[in-house]
Amino acid sequence: MRHLMSPLDFTVEELEQLFDLANDIEKDMPKYAKACEGKKLATCFYEPSTRTRLSFEAAMLNLGGNVIGFSDAGSSSASKGESVSDTIRVISCFADICAMRHHKEGAPMVAAEKSSIPVINAGDGGHQHPTQTLTDLLTIRSLKGSLGHFTIGLCGDLKFGRTVHSLINALVRYPDIHFIFISPQELRVPDYITEMLKEKNIPYEEVIRLEEIMPRLDFLYMTRVQKERFFNEEDYVRLKDFYILNSDKMALAKKDMLVLHPLPRVNEISVEVDDDPRAAYFKQVQYGVYVRMALILTLLESCKN
Ligand code: CP
Repeated sequence: MRHLMSPLDFTVEELEQLFDLANDIEKDMPKYAKACEGKKLATCFYEPSTRTRLSFEAAMLNLGGNVIGFSDAGSSSASKGESVSDTIRVISCFADICAMRHHKEGAPMVAAEKSSIPVINAGDGGHQHPTQTLTDLLTIRSLKGSLGHFTIGLCGDLKFGRTVHSLINALVRYPDIHFIFISPQELRVPDYITEMLKEKNIPYEEVIRLEEIMPRLDFLYMTRVQKERFFNEEDYVRLKDFYILNSDKMALAKKDMLVLHPLPRVNEISVEVDDDPRAAYFKQVQYGVYVRMALILTLLESCKN
């Protein structure tokens, strides 16, 4: 039985199989309409979510399965002091697979250790967000044809943004990727990531101004400033609108550059950019459903072996 805690839990070859399955689902959704008949997904969300929880639920419903769960720790017995370890033992009696989001880094891993069903990390604190990374990789592969040989700019809150940390970890396994980190000084990518890139001899740059590197990018991955992870409101207010992608900045970019964003967006992408054919962030949401369908099928299959 397999869990998903990090995108690195799957080899590059296994990811290729997962993405092939996701693309097949995209082409012929009705073929999979009964694939999970009689199975239940539990969504245990201790932190707010729109996309991740609902796309997991849509994925399981598309596969003919059912969904149970909670969307708020306050409405679960966590509010009475129940541990994650006990909760997953209970959920294992009700469901066949569980997607868990938690504000504490490592909480889904603790759950996986006590679980008798596959556990998927749906985001743990500022640490990892592997299914967003699978979504991002599938989007890049589907829209550009392959993973590798590109320059990607990651812009915004690179300190607290778990989607960024997960995506960098995953992309280092592909050939010829050049990273450009665009952030204010206070929100730079953590040292453990730049150390890892140095160790692997993977090229990266750190810049503050978005405009100066726009013409070089094949992908621009925008992120919001993570209000919920700031220790004081004053710092958040000072930094929250540091970057706003608008039509003027898009005019500096390549004709085929793609803009990705894990969403939710706050102010960092002006709505005028939504009509630009290079804005791929809503397509990215749709790919999130296909890849979660493929992941549910793959992890449930792992229980049979
Ligand atoms: N991208 C993402 O994790 O969105 P939600 O917080 O809405 O799930």
